[in-house]
Amino acid sequence: MIDQSPSPTPSPTASLLTKYRSDAPFLTLLNLYRHDWPKLVESFGFFLIKHSPEWVRPLIIANVVDIVAQPSQHSLHELWLNGALLAVMIAQNLPTHYLHIRATRQMEANLRSAMTQRLQELSMGFHWQRSTGVLQAKLLQDVEKIEQLTSYLFQFVPSAVLTIIIAISITARRAPWFLLFFLATVPAAVLLIWGLRKPMRDRNHTFRRQVEGMSANLSDALKLIPITRAHGVEAEAMRRTNQQLEAVKQAGLCLDTINAITNASTWVVLRSFNALCLITAAWLAYQGRQGLTAGDVVLLSGYFDTLTTSTVMILTVMPQISTGFEAIRSVGEVLECPDLEQNQGKLAIAHVQGNFRFDQVGFAYPHQVHAALHNISLIVPPGQTIALVGPSGAGKSTFINLVIGFLRPTQGTLYLDGQDMNGLDLRTYRRWVSVVSQDTILFEGTVRENILYGTDSADEQKLHWAIEAANADEFIHRLPQGLDTLIGENGAKLSGGQRQRLTIARALIRDPRVLILDEATASLDTASESLIQSALQQLMGGRTTFVVAHRLSTIRRADQIVVLNQGQIVEVGTHPELLKVEGLYASLHRLQS
Ligand SMILES: Nc1ncnc2c1ncn2[C@@H]1O[C@H](COP(=O)(O)OP(=O)(O)OP(=O)(O)O)[C@@H](O)[C@H]1O
Ligand SMILES: [Mg+2]
Repeated sequence: MIDQSPSPTPSPTASLLTKYRSDAPFLTLLNLYRHDWPKLVESFGFFLIKHSPEWVRPLIIANVVDIVAQPSQHSLHELWLNGALLAVMIAQNLPTHYLHIRATRQMEANLRSAMTQRLQELSMGFHWQRSTGVLQAKLLQDVEKIEQLTSYLFQFVPSAVLTIIIAISITARRAPWFLLFFLATVPAAVLLIWGLRKPMRDRNHTFRRQVEGMSANLSDALKLIPITRAHGVEAEAMRRTNQQLEAVKQAGLCLDTINAITNASTWVVLRSFNALCLITAAWLAYQGRQGLTAGDVVLLSGYFDTLTTSTVMILTVMPQISTGFEAIRSVGEVLECPDLEQNQGKLAIAHVQGNFRFDQVGFAYPHQVHAALHNISLIVPPGQTIALVGPSGAGKSTFINLVIGFLRPTQGTLYLDGQDMNGLDLRTYRRWVSVVSQDTILFEGTVRENILYGTDSADEQKLHWAIEAANADEFIHRLPQGLDTLIGENGAKLSGGQRQRLTIARALIRDPRVLILDEATASLDTASESLIQSALQQLMGGRTTFVVAHRLSTIRRADQIVVLNQGQIVEVGTHPELLKVEGLYASLHRLQS
C-alpha cells in the first residue's frame, strides 16, 4: 500500500513502460527484446544448424540411391562419404538443440517486472475494479504466451520459410519444371490458411476472456470456502463454478474445433499433392523423360515432404501466434492503462505536520449519478483526533480514501499543511501515513517480518518499543519461536485481536504523522478491545488521527466528531457538544447506550 520508491531508476523495465503499444504488437514484441538481440540471434543460429538435416537429408538419400542404381558410374568411396555426412548431420542435433533453448527467459523477467511496477503505480480505482485472479493470469500465463510467440516468430517460422526456399532452389537446379507442382500447392495451402485464420482471431479473444473470468472465479471460490461451508451452500458454489468451467470448455472446444479443421484440411490437401508428385516423378523416370534418375524421384518426393511439413508447421503455429499477439494486447491492458496515480513531477515533501483543510470538497465515483461526498469543509489542526460517524453509506470510507490520496476530490480542494494535495507526490506524503483497518493484511512470514513491513530501517530497540506500545509483547513471548514464529497465510495462526495488535505495531514503527484507524476495533470483544484501545491511545498521541468507528464509546475523546449523512457533514463538535445539540449524533448515541 505504501510506495517506498519515489524515483524509479532507468532500466529495461522503464523503456518497456513507455514503448509498449498493443496497437502495434509486432513492434512491441521487437521492443521487448531490445536489450537481448545477441542472445536471440545466437539462439536462432543454433536452431538453424539443428534443423539443417531437414534440408540436406533428401539430397544425401538421392545420392545414395543413384550410387546403388548406377554402380558402374560411382565408387563405393562415394557411398561412405555420404554415409559419414549423414551421420554428422544427425549427431549434431543433440548439442545444438541444447544450445538453442537457452535464450528468452530474460524477456519474461523484464516484462513481469514492468507489469508489477505499473500495478504499483496504477490508481486504487483500477485495483478496486479488477480481481487479483485476472491480474494474475496476465502476469503468469500471458507472459508465457508472449515467450512462446517469440520462438514461433523468430525461430520456427523463419526456419520453415528457409526450408521451403532451399527445397525450391535445389529442385530448380535438378528438375526446374517440377516447380510447377510447388507453385500449384503452396498458394493453395496459403489460401487455405488465410480462409481459416480469420475466425481463429475472434475465437481467441472470447476464449481469453473466459479463461480470465474462470481464474478470477476459482480464486474467489477458494477464498470463500470457509463462508461457503459455514453456510452449507457448497452445492450452489459448485454449481456456479461448474457453470463457468462449462463456458470455458465450450469456448475451448470451439477453438479446438477450428484448429482441428484448419489442420486436417490442410493435411489432406497437401498429402494429395504429395502423392501426385511421387507418382508423376516415378512415371516420368520410368518413361525415361526429362533425364530423371531414380535418385531424382526420391529427392523430389523428399523435398515435397519437407515442403509439406514446413507449410503444415507454419499452419499449426498460426493459432498460437494469434494467441501470442492476443496476450500482447492483454498485457497492454495493464501497461498502457492511463489510470495512473499521477505523481511524476509533483512536489515531493520532506516532512508532514498533519494539518488538513477541506475546502468545499466533493467526490463522485465514476459513472455514479449521486456524489458520495459534497461540500465538505473542515479544518484539522496537527495532532487532533477526528472521528467520523454516520450511517452506512454516509461516505466515511470515501472521506478516508481522500485523506490517504487514493481518491482525488472531484470538486473543491484538499490542503495538506497549506499545500493543495493535487500538487503533491503522494508517495512522499504516504511515508508519513499509517493505516490500521478492520481487515488486517498480514503475509506468510515471521512476526518480525510482518511488523517491519513498510519501514526501511528499524533497530531492535525501536521494534521492541513498538511491540510493547501495541500491547503485543505478552502474546509474542508466548509464541513458540517468539518474534521468529511463522504466522501462516494472513496470520492464520493468530487470533483476531493478536493480528490487530501486530498491525498496530506495524503502524507505530513507521512513526507516522497521520494515522488512519478504519473500524480498527470493530471485530473485538471488550477485553481485547481495551488492550487495543490503550495501544491505540499510544499510537494517536501527537499525531493527526482519523478514526472511523461504529462503536461510539471508542471515540468519546476525539477533538472533533464529524457526523456524516448522505455525503454531507451534518454536525461537528466534541462528544458533550454534540449531545447537547440533540441531533443525529445524540440519537445514534442513545441507540447504542
Ligand atoms: N467504488 C465505488 N464505486 C461507486 N460507488 C461507490 C464506491 N464506493 C462507495 N460508493 C458509494 O459511495 C457512497 C459512500 O460510500 P462509503 O463507502 O464512503 O460509505 P461508508 O460511510 O464508509 O459506509 P460504511 O459505514 O457502510 O462503511 C455509497 O453510496 C456507496 O454506494
Ligand atoms: Mg466504510
